[in-house]
Amino acid sequence: MKVLVVGGGGREHALAWAIARSPLLTGLVVAPGNPGIARHGRCAPVRDTAVEELVALAAAERPELVVVGPEAPLALGLGDRLRARGLPVFGPSAAAARLESSKAFAKDLMARHGIPTAHFRVFDAPAPARAYCRKLGAPLVVKADGLAAGKGAIVCRTLEEADRAVARCLEERAFGEAGLRLVVEEFMAGEEASFFALSDGAAVLPLVAAQDHKTVFDDDRGPNTGGMGAYSPAPVMDEEMTDRVITEIVRPTIAAMAKEGAPYSGVLFVGLMITRDGPRVVEFNCRFGDPECQAILPRLDEDLLPLLEAVARGRGLPAAIRWRAEASACVVMASGGYPGHYETGREISGLDPTGALPDVEGVQVFHAGTALRAGRLVTAGGRVLGVQALGHDIREAVVRAYAAAARIRFDGAHFRRDIGRRALARQEPR
Ligand code: AMP
Ligand code: GLY
Repeated sequence: MKVLVVGGGGREHALAWAIARSPLLTGLVVAPGNPGIARHGRCAPVRDTAVEELVALAAAERPELVVVGPEAPLALGLGDRLRARGLPVFGPSAAAARLESSKAFAKDLMARHGIPTAHFRVFDAPAPARAYCRKLGAPLVVKADGLAAGKGAIVCRTLEEADRAVARCLEERAFGEAGLRLVVEEFMAGEEASFFALSDGAAVLPLVAAQDHKTVFDDDRGPNTGGMGAYSPAPVMDEEMTDRVITEIVRPTIAAMAKEGAPYSGVLFVGLMITRDGPRVVEFNCRFGDPECQAILPRLDEDLLPLLEAVARGRGLPAAIRWRAEASACVVMASGGYPGHYETGREISGLDPTGALPDVEGVQVFHAGTALRAGRLVTAGGRVLGVQALGHDIREAVVRAYAAAARIRFDGAHFRRDIGRRALARQEPR
């Protein structure tokens, strides 16, 4: 099978790595890809939001399956465009991707179908939004409706902070169009987890849970990032909690989307808060998490490609699959200054000419923001590499990932030193 993957970050490297292991694969093209991905397939220099060019690339390459990694092209309707040309696509339609691209849509859907989430209301004018903030009381959360690169949710500890957040969205237009509508919601206390499930629009195949580390510094301090590391499994998601998430959230959401005429096909990423009263939805995403994907896919004890194809073709999705017993951890190495201003073009040392770490078993180095310049591997983004390792438990996986990260160097490199801390805090000290 010939496959086209859209995207060029760490998540797409993990997808390309897993797809390239399939005996069914006959050719792999990735747009735009990156130097790490080039180890597994051919990179085509097309941006992941250039819908017209991607449609033209697909017409020229004639893949038998297109796998879309990021949310932006899905929200722009890339899946619809390719399906209209008869191509099987892994990734939802633009209408179904509204689960991520419009928080107001996602919240209203949950309210209509009794799916547990924070109490909320949607506003497009400041005065009623501020009045509702007073009704809820602090702490509360103000969220831009549209896609805001993970920065659109403002947790407000006081009503003054809430007033500022409302003004930033609606009056100062800090999030542009994405913030002209906002969701004001109740603050939920608990532990966060990410859960993933595949669906072909009707059938559901639950995958596994992971936890990521959103803030840039240890102990959850500093500004939010795209994610500084992840591990899987997530101990907070024990068997009972997983069953509850599947029956109370995942299946009802897939059923609701089908019932409302926008069947959801692809991977559903449920951002969860595990509260005292059970699991509740923080947000939905219409794609794999980044870096959760890098932690999860190495645990898969199956060929990924037939699963992606079954989702895309809308038939043949199995009810359950096998996972390795090992735990997995991924440590993100970032450029100095990220998530604020950072410089690129810093030479990366420690990796072999293909961008892999030599002589290390059970470790993968996924490229996120790298480039080749005059034959040398250099930094080209905020998140540069995801160093992933398996271990018999989270502790061993984390130790292995850090040992591998210590062998890789670039000027200004920084990474969190406490990946897995929630999981480790639950384990008995050894
Ligand atoms: P979101 O963009 O909706 O995923 O929100 C980003 C982050 O804000 C989440 O990962 C949570 O840490 C936090 N957050 C969002 N909504 C809530 C809520 N209702 N209660 C508590 N924390 C929240
Ligand atoms: N790591 C969180 C996300 O992909 O949105």
